[in-house]
Amino acid sequence: MGIVEKKILLRAESLHKEYPMGKDQRLHVIKGLDMEVREGEMAVIVGPSGSGKSTLLHLLGGLDRPSSGKVVVDNLDLSVLSEEELAGFRNQTLGFIFQFHHLLPEFTALENVAMPALIRGEKFPEAQHRATTLLQEVGLEERTDHKPSELSGGEQQRVAVARALMNDPRLVLADEPSGNLDEENSQRLHQLLADLAQKRGLTFVIATHNLDLTKRAHRVLQLIDGRLVTGLRSLS
Ligand SMILES: Nc1ncnc2c1ncn2[C@@H]1O[C@H](COP(=O)(O)OP(=O)(O)O)[C@@H](O)[C@H]1O
Ligand SMILES: [Mg+2]
Repeated sequence: MGIVEKKILLRAESLHKEYPMGKDQRLHVIKGLDMEVREGEMAVIVGPSGSGKSTLLHLLGGLDRPSSGKVVVDNLDLSVLSEEELAGFRNQTLGFIFQFHHLLPEFTALENVAMPALIRGEKFPEAQHRATTLLQEVGLEERTDHKPSELSGGEQQRVAVARALMNDPRLVLADEPSGNLDEENSQRLHQLLADLAQKRGLTFVIATHNLDLTKRAHRVLQLIDGRLVTGLRSLS
């Protein structure tokens, strides 16, 4: 209707994931799942604990390989990549945010945020400059020299968001990013993610139980019996 359809950034096709479970037993978690996420979209995945949300995010982000089926991100079929190429893809194309911040305890907020760029080979002064700007963007300009243990849970998660953005990813995957935060900090984090999606045209796939976050999403997908069912579009 006059609006140009955004391109598909992420596509999963006939995705299956089975985990071996002792002798001759398998746990079939993802069962022929298809999905598409367009550029700039914030897609949220909901489903009960144990339904396979983390498993799915790991497959989408190339942290684990599917038993069959494929994942295509930005026209790149992950199944053809070697482990080394996958690591490069994760570093350069993706941002990850986890339920527990996974920051390195012995490094400052600034160093944690700069890390993905340093791994990629960026020089320290340049990485430091960009990390400082990102910490400002998430409202932590006064916490740059603090270690994770000297930050609140909400602040730790915002550092993790800044780190996820450091290499200017096309796609950010988040696994219950507010699962460990109180309501006030959760809402602040969700507002930040929504602002980033809008300002930077970032694409998000987020697993969550949180209703405030599902209300902000463009699309809510329910993981039921190993496949995704489109939920109600949010009203906001
Ligand atoms: N590495 C693994 N090996 C074996 N089973 C696993 C592994 N990871 C997850 N599972 C199982 O797969 C199912 C889905 O888990 P998960 O993806 O963590 O679900 P969710 O994130 O929705 O809670 C659960 O039954 C879980 O025990
Ligand atoms: Mg999980």
